[in-house]
Amino acid sequence: MGRIYRVGYASALDGSLKLQGAKNSVLKLMAATLLAAGVHRLQNVPRISDVEVMREILAAIGAPSSWSGRHELEITVPAADELSPYPPVDLVKRIRASIVLTGPLLAVVGRARLANPGGDDFGTRPIDIHEDALTRLGASFEHFNTYMEVKAPHLEGADLVFEFPSHTATDNAIMAAVRARGTTVIENAAREPEVVDLAAALSSMGARIQGAGTSRIVIEGVDRLSPMNHSVVGDRVVAATYLTALGMVGGRLELAGIDFSIMEILIRKLEACGVSVRPVPGGLVAEAGPRPLAADIQTLPYPGVATDYKPMLVAMLSRAQGVSVVSENLFSGRFRYLDELRRLGADLISEGHHVVVRGVPKLVGGRVQAYDIRAGAALVVGALGAENETVITGIEHIERGYDGLVENLVALGAGISVEEE
Ligand code: UD1
Repeated sequence: MGRIYRVGYASALDGSLKLQGAKNSVLKLMAATLLAAGVHRLQNVPRISDVEVMREILAAIGAPSSWSGRHELEITVPAADELSPYPPVDLVKRIRASIVLTGPLLAVVGRARLANPGGDDFGTRPIDIHEDALTRLGASFEHFNTYMEVKAPHLEGADLVFEFPSHTATDNAIMAAVRARGTTVIENAAREPEVVDLAAALSSMGARIQGAGTSRIVIEGVDRLSPMNHSVVGDRVVAATYLTALGMVGGRLELAGIDFSIMEILIRKLEACGVSVRPVPGGLVAEAGPRPLAADIQTLPYPGVATDYKPMLVAMLSRAQGVSVVSENLFSGRFRYLDELRRLGADLISEGHHVVVRGVPKLVGGRVQAYDIRAGAALVVGALGAENETVITGIEHIERGYDGLVENLVALGAGISVEEE
């Protein structure tokens, strides 16, 4: 049939973990390697299926890679005339982040044909901000039923003003602009730590970028870049998954490999929920009592509470003492996991983009389905606080972004296993 997670009730979590590198950074860094011929070295690379798909895409267009250590990837990029601008349709559709191949391919090959990107199951994900930015840099787009063709014989720096601080559109525009002629200014740029990580890697390759991490990024195009040797930033969404799991059942958790400052607003919210978190050198330490407290939370672009944290927060709050309201401000369809949490006994009422969460003392185990990566993580958090056993199907969605989730939770004392059914 398929692989499942079998999860038992956890009375508390206790232990320490080394956090994986960020999915939402490594996929862009892998795309960025196309900007320079030679051998690139990436460290702290998570062993997740999205990375394997991106490796297959890069190999298919001429840039093969190999693991040189458990978390070290070497990517060999050929000269521009040996790179294909046609990433395979079936692979591109499997990861939403593949849209970020557009910027680098335009910059080095001058054209790209990309399948309309796939990804998570939460509503329409338009690409107009990407298209607008790349068009202003000199690209032209042609749309067909299942794919698009983009061409740019030359890229010229331009002043870009984003209607919304789109994360991947910021990545894409930066990667095109680093090789464009002249200066590009991005106003209302995304400020996410993964954008900062990308800019740091590109700068180490010789790119000239200022202001990453602020809403105004200035890029001076250069003619040549050299390969990167870069360690991927820690995954704050995975960190949030372990922190909400801790909030769900209580205990103590030490996380190494994450910078407290990139999660500050979430941490303040977690404190309001009774999860105390403090920075320690190289990571953080968190402690929580047996049941969380209720709090109202809304998702916002960085530095606000990320939309990617939300499913796990809702799962945690479903056991809170009191009533919480959680509001989604980024993705219209990000609510499908609520039905699955309800199957575990969560008391959730959704109204427009709000969810009212009435905490119950314990959830109850059942059989649930993960429909996307964070929804799946939320079910794992929910299952840890559910009496009896929970079976989670659709775990391939979770494995898109979580490296060693089961092993890590077992190390913290949880009863969770992967089984064939
Ligand atoms: C990235 C993350 C994703 C996260 C999201 C928000 C990656 C691979 N994915 O996705 O995990 O949930 O940021 O933090 O890094 N929008 C448009 N037009 C566009 C682009 C976006 O209208 O061209 C809208 C989207 O529909 C959405 C909002 O802008 O409502 C945010 O999207 P965006 O920041 O672009 O998210 P992604 O970069 O796709």
